[in-house]
Amino acid sequence: MNLHQIVADEAAKAFVAADIGGSPVVLQPAKNADFGDFQINGVMGAAKQLKQNPRELAQKVADALAESQVIESAEVAGPGFINLRLRAEFLAQNIQTALHSEHLGVTSAAQPKTVVIDYSSPNLAKEMHVGHLRSSIIGDSISRVLEFLGNKVVRQNHVGDWGTQFGMLVAYMVEQQQDNAEFELSDLEQFYRAAKVRFDESPEFADTAREYVVKLQGGDEHVLALWKQFVQISLTHAQNVYNTLGLKLTPEDVSGESRYNDDLQPVVDDLTAKGLAVDSDGAKVVFLDEFKNKEGEPAAFIVQKKGGGFLYASTDLACIRYRVGRLKGNRLLYVVDTRQALHFDQLFTTSRKAGYLPENVEAQFIGFGTMMGKDGKPFKTRSGDTVKLVDLLSEAVDRATTLVKSKNPDLSAEEAVKIGQTVGIGAVKYADLSKNRTSDYVFDWESMLSFEGNTAPYLQYAYTRVQSVFRRAGEWNNNAQLILTEPLEKQLAVELLKFEDVLNNVAETSYPHYLAAYLYQVATLFSRFYEACPIIKAEGEVRETRLQLAKLTGDTLKQGLELLGIETLEVM
Ligand code: ARG
Repeated sequence: MNLHQIVADEAAKAFVAADIGGSPVVLQPAKNADFGDFQINGVMGAAKQLKQNPRELAQKVADALAESQVIESAEVAGPGFINLRLRAEFLAQNIQTALHSEHLGVTSAAQPKTVVIDYSSPNLAKEMHVGHLRSSIIGDSISRVLEFLGNKVVRQNHVGDWGTQFGMLVAYMVEQQQDNAEFELSDLEQFYRAAKVRFDESPEFADTAREYVVKLQGGDEHVLALWKQFVQISLTHAQNVYNTLGLKLTPEDVSGESRYNDDLQPVVDDLTAKGLAVDSDGAKVVFLDEFKNKEGEPAAFIVQKKGGGFLYASTDLACIRYRVGRLKGNRLLYVVDTRQALHFDQLFTTSRKAGYLPENVEAQFIGFGTMMGKDGKPFKTRSGDTVKLVDLLSEAVDRATTLVKSKNPDLSAEEAVKIGQTVGIGAVKYADLSKNRTSDYVFDWESMLSFEGNTAPYLQYAYTRVQSVFRRAGEWNNNAQLILTEPLEKQLAVELLKFEDVLNNVAETSYPHYLAAYLYQVATLFSRFYEACPIIKAEGEVRETRLQLAKLTGDTLKQGLELLGIETLEVM
């Protein structure tokens, strides 16, 4: 259910009854539950316009709300706010519905979209490093939420698998294979470095590398086969990381830069024919008046280099044609480092002008900040190298396993590893997803692995606490009529019914931290409820009511965490 909308509709009816029907209803969740569940503060604005007394007008609205099946009380406060409390029967009925419906009562999007979401998208020449972590985690969560709401989601892993570096890498691979029949590419990072050393030290090697680039782009079958071999190995490395992280990305989602190779020249020709791309010092450039510099000169979006070579931008233009034309996307999302914001701005503007992005297709850049170390500088190893993702994730699991063992020495080694994996990976993901993605964020093992505060371990543990209630509860009836009387019972019920509002918000804004904050709120509220309202010891309808609230809390935590890509355990 869309709780916010339902309450807003009630308020709108009351506005009509009070003769201020045209004014916007400004509805907010209450800041302090002691005063109510929601607050209307659109009346003051209306009163000002109509030159009426705001408190009197607010009272008219409040009187009209007394008729509502949804609202139990409406109280005027301050200069003309109205504090609303929802009816217990209304809450009870909807908790029941949520408990017994497939998606916890969350309704599907009224107008589902085909969302093409570009995330992870590492360059395959090198090993995946921490720079790819945020895109992978954030993109995965957004895609899960969109899917859950009934949209068609097409994941696109726009890997960098094309360009001059690959000539060098393939040349080096050939050399290594000749020297070493057992050749195995286990460390891409080291391989890249060694290839670069060869490139710099040997002119013959450098010549071969350049020759390979030309052959590769010319479609030479032999070199293409070698290139494929390299790309395959690198993709296997990436897929291992995805599996460890529990991402939804599969090999079928890979749609690399190379895919668009044949469409690059046609795109440039088309832009030229449309008068958008023009010659500038031998290069082909789209000048964009929308992006003028201080001197008033338009930005130059280069689509083909002098000498004919193509660029990142050319590929992305061809890629948009594919996502709209072939994949039939009507919402395109790009989860990419904030430093690429300008590229995407110019890309979208150019694509609109060229007709590649029709008006009914949304294109959004979903930027994120840099992952920082505790020292406030971009996250690096102690020696100043970039941190490989495989290493980071295995450290997460090791740390969490040690922690879990110390908390519970009776765990078998096997159990400790299983829990350590879930907690360690969950902690890394949640630390990222719980922050506003647009800012830089500090990667700190201690705080992310803490069992207190807004962390994955806290939420995972909160879930196991709910589950333990049911292990002790024995028989109970999840169809019993709920009778909500205690303030904390009602407050928890209201919060649980906001799940859909929150998911819609995430879907619209692509901010997963709204969901994280909500789950944290549910977990802390449950813990207050649990202290104040005994569950197992209660009797009769009180017990049945509280068990149902606990059940929906558990289901919501589990489902919510799953939408963040985080696993739960029954015991920890
Ligand atoms: N491979 C790029 C990088 O690592 C990210 C690609 C993002 N997607 C895109 N369509 N440009 O920076």
